[in-house]
Amino acid sequence: MTPSDVKATLSFSDGSPSMDLPIYKGTIGPDVIDIRKLYGQTGKFTYDPGFLSTASCNSTITYIDGDKGELLYRGYPIEQLAVNCDYLDTCYLLLYGELPNTEQRGTFHSRVINHTMVNEQMQFFLRGFRRDAHPMAVLTGLVGALSAFYHDSTDINNPEHREIAAIRLIAKMPTLVAMAYKYTVGQPYIYPKNDLSYAGNFMRMMFATPCEEYKVNPVIERALDRIFILHADHEQNASTSTVRLCGSSGTNPFAAIAAGVACLWGPSHGGANEACLNMLGDIQKMGGVAKVGEFMSQVKDKNSGVKLMGFGHRVYKNYDPRAKLMRETCHEVLGELGLHNDPLFKLAMELEKIALEDDYFVARKLYPNVDFYSGIVQRAIGIPVSLFTAIFALARTVGWIAQLNEMIADPEYKIGRPRQLFVGAEKRDVKPLAER
Ligand code: CMC
Repeated sequence: MTPSDVKATLSFSDGSPSMDLPIYKGTIGPDVIDIRKLYGQTGKFTYDPGFLSTASCNSTITYIDGDKGELLYRGYPIEQLAVNCDYLDTCYLLLYGELPNTEQRGTFHSRVINHTMVNEQMQFFLRGFRRDAHPMAVLTGLVGALSAFYHDSTDINNPEHREIAAIRLIAKMPTLVAMAYKYTVGQPYIYPKNDLSYAGNFMRMMFATPCEEYKVNPVIERALDRIFILHADHEQNASTSTVRLCGSSGTNPFAAIAAGVACLWGPSHGGANEACLNMLGDIQKMGGVAKVGEFMSQVKDKNSGVKLMGFGHRVYKNYDPRAKLMRETCHEVLGELGLHNDPLFKLAMELEKIALEDDYFVARKLYPNVDFYSGIVQRAIGIPVSLFTAIFALARTVGWIAQLNEMIADPEYKIGRPRQLFVGAEKRDVKPLAER
């Protein structure tokens, strides 16, 4: 971190001594005020629920400029990565900081591919779930359970363990997600086939059956790969911060990633793509495009509790760059599958058009986020709505691991331990039961 010549001075209106706080400059983006000595020197904490103004770490991985609508992985614009690289190149970049050369690419691809199978015993663990369990409930369990199967990669303080856990998680996530899906639909699991691409292999594990040959459609394969790239990392969002906080206790990487999966499930985060498709389905049932106006009135009515899912973002106050790329992919996939007249897609276009022109959305800088389109693409590919967030988790796993490993390798890292403003009862005595 580069210290700035400027310092912040904190003064108090009650005459307590003021305090100088160091300021650090990032390579890009806002400076930060270092408050680490604040409590020691003043006996006061800062108060920032929801982390609206708090940088929880320093990081070299992902940069977002929310006002410009810019997303960089290790300095590379997402638009360039989406066009010139595949998901495994992106994983390499996020994990090691540079794009691979030809040799590194070959080695990394084959390392990942060698770990795609999961311990056969995982099947029996999976069988303990109800067939109608939500895939995210199953995935949280399966990912956490990896720590019970791969004992040689659970020491978070050992760089070799961290490295092998990273490869295993990236390699096995598609297998686990496909297994969770096959279990729900009562079909046999399809083992990975390692001469396929990462995305192609996942498609085959999802959609093939043992009865016939499965041919990977290259347009869909590319679309899926793009979904993976666009979701690979996104700075210190809720699930990534969860992984960092969980991992900061020294727990094993599989347990920390399972915590990330659990956090991602929520509808304000990764669950938004599922919620968005369900919302489109509900409007469709109400009467489709003709009812968009009525639905928008509900969204704008604060008492209704209705939100336009797939719109708005804590950081982006401009068009989410991932949404632009996903919109493009959406057109390609619907064209390839002959679904351009799909009513849900038309409805989504109409909602987007109205929202982009509406004062409510314009004033609040609410733009479509990546989930607005990724749900439509996934549905067109044949992925069931309840599995959308699991696909997001699959793709985000590399980001979680890269962030976790960055934190552990930082010599300044400490267990995360936020403080609080206590507003509950002061100390009091327990009364005997008869007097309460
Ligand atoms: N529909 C209607 N109003 C909205 C929406 C929306 N989708 N999003 C924000 N607002 C309003 C909100 O009511 C508030 O209005 P006011 O100032 O009058 O009180 C204003 O916009 C600011 O919103 P906020 O809730 O303070 O913003 P936030 O940063 O806390 O929330 C968000 C961000 C993503 C949770 C929220 O925009 C949202 O719930 N969106 C829908 C869910 C969604 O699509 N989530 C996916 C995020 S992208 C994928 C990911 O990274 O996980």
